[in-house]
Formats: sequence, C-alpha cells, structure tokens
Amino acid sequence: MSTHVTLNTGHSMPLVGLGTYPLQGRTAIDAVLTAVDAGYRLLDTAASYGNEAAVGAGVRESGLPRKDFFVTTKLRGEDHGAAKARAAIEGSLERLGLDYVDLYLIHWPLPRLGLYVETYAALLELAREGLIRSVGVSNFTPEHLDAVVKETGVHPAVNQRQVSPTHAQAALVDAPQGDPTVLQAWSPLERNTGVLEHPVIVEIARRVGKAPSQVVLRWLLDRGIGVVPKSGDPGRQRENIDVFDFRLDAADVAAITALDTGKPVRLDPDTHEEF
Ligand SMILES: NC(=O)c1ccc[n+]([C@@H]2O[C@H](COP(=O)([O-])OP(=O)(O)OC[C@H]3O[C@@H](n4cnc5c(N)ncnc54)[C@H](OP(=O)(O)O)[C@@H]3O)[C@@H](O)[C@H]2O)c1
Repeated sequence: MSTHVTLNTGHSMPLVGLGTYPLQGRTAIDAVLTAVDAGYRLLDTAASYGNEAAVGAGVRESGLPRKDFFVTTKLRGEDHGAAKARAAIEGSLERLGLDYVDLYLIHWPLPRLGLYVETYAALLELAREGLIRSVGVSNFTPEHLDAVVKETGVHPAVNQRQVSPTHAQAALVDAPQGDPTVLQAWSPLERNTGVLEHPVIVEIARRVGKAPSQVVLRWLLDRGIGVVPKSGDPGRQRENIDVFDFRLDAADVAAITALDTGKPVRLDPDTHEEF
C-alpha cells in the first residue's frame, strides 16, 4: 500500500502529513517532535499560522537530515502579486530556517484581487531558482485551476481543499483521469465536530478493528487524496498515521461517500478573504 505519491514535479510526497494549525511555540515544536517519532515527515504550516519558526525548530531539534522532511507552507493573501512573491517565500524560508520548501501553496485564490494567476506564474519562476521544489495551490475550484493552467501550461502539483465525509467534493475527486494535480484534504477529521461519532463511521470502525479517525482517513486515501490531520497529542498522531495496514471494501467506501451533505464548504473559495 503506497505511503507516498509522486507529484508532477517528480518529487515524492507522503500521503499523510501533520497539520499544525493552530499550534504555537513550544507546543508546536513538541508536536513536531512526537509526530516525527510516530513516522511523520510531511509538516503542513502557513505564513498565516504564525508557527513557521516553531515548525522549523522542530525539524532541527529532531536531528533528522533536512532531506528527510517534506515541508509545506503557504503564501498569505497580502502577498498576492508577482512583485511580492519573492519576499513572501524568502520570509517563510527565513522563519523556517530552511533554504527551500518542498511545497509552496497559494493559500486562497482571492479572486476579488485578480492576482492569483500572476502569483502562480511568479512562483513557478522561483521554483526554477530552487527556493521551492513544487508549486501548488489551496482552496482552488476547477475554474481557478483552469485559469492558472491556461496561462502557464503547468498544472499545480497539489490542490489542498477541505474534503471529508460530509464534504466529499465529488467534482474535485472525480477530476478527469490523468489529472496531474494531487488533491490533499484539510480538516479531514472535520475538526472532530461529530463525524467521528457518526453511526456509519463507528460501525465500520468496530467491524474492521480500527478507530473512527482511521476509517475516515483511509476513506480519503482510498480515493487518492492525501491528508494533513492536525493533532498535538502523541497517541492521536500515531493513530492518524497508522492507516496503511487495512483497506475499506467498496460498500464501506460508498456508505461513507453517501454521508456527503452536498452543502457548500464553510469557507467559500470564491469569497473567503484570508490575509
Ligand atoms: N489550506 C487551508 O486553507 C487550510 C485550512 C484549514 C486547515 N488547514 C491545514 O489542515 C490541517 C488539519 O485541519 P484542521 O486542523 O482544521 O482539522 P482536522 O485535522 O480535521 O481536526 C483537528 C482536530 O481533531 C482532533 N483530532 C485529531 N486526531 C484525532 C483523532 N485521532 N481522534 C479524535 N480527535 C482527533 C484534534 O485534537 P488534538 O490536537 O487534541 O488531537 C483537533 O481538535 C490544519 O492543521 C492545517 O495544517 C489548511
């Protein structure tokens, strides 16, 4: 069972990573260290989370070589635009204490600004200079994806979106075969607001001998989606990455997919303003 996916840039990305929002300071560093012990190598941070320095400190305190990690960070809304992209990535690298990031995402498309296409093109240039291994996007709809591909001819390596049982995102998941953009789910556990107690999930978990969180994460992985669950708790971190020794049968996958409410996600990519 694959634990990694090869991106269209040729780089290998772990399918399970550690979400780090809203961990801060020493708590964030300790979360990185316990996650590394549990086997995590993908760390998901963002300029807007205010914890890039802590994530970078965790990388160094782990004692593992930089090349063993896959570090993702994200460009803030206030840094959209070709003129600001270089300073944005250089600021993130300085806070992280790293000389490159594995994956740099445009955090939100902010179509009102009309700058996400030129920002994406500028990031592709910075990747050629070696500051970024893979350029991706986050919270991009199919329309936003089409716009950047039309302009640059380069598909984003990753699109990080809110995907979970009640927001199954069929339009994104069922992208045309051969779509080179890897989908990665944020809030895969719905921030533990009820999905882990849903009777359908609980019954499958009991039957397959796994935790509800593991069933939800496996369901995402089985649909070809990477995941970045956040936990600051060493036990839950171990649970969330221990998802490579079982599969769900087609009926269970369908039963979980049927929990989709079809309702729009809480933060609409077309109107959400994240700065
Ligand atoms: N691109 C974007 O716009 C965007 C937006 C939001 C988030 N993200 C990223 O995605 C990451 C994950 O999303 P999220 O933090 O919103 O939601 P999440 O990972 O779905 O849920 C995190 C919550 O679930 C709890 N939890 C974790 N593992 C659990 C388990 N095995 N059993 C029970 N509860 C568990 C955590 O508590 P404990 O810590 O106490 O375990 C925490 O309260 C973020 O940290 C961030 O890196 C990206």
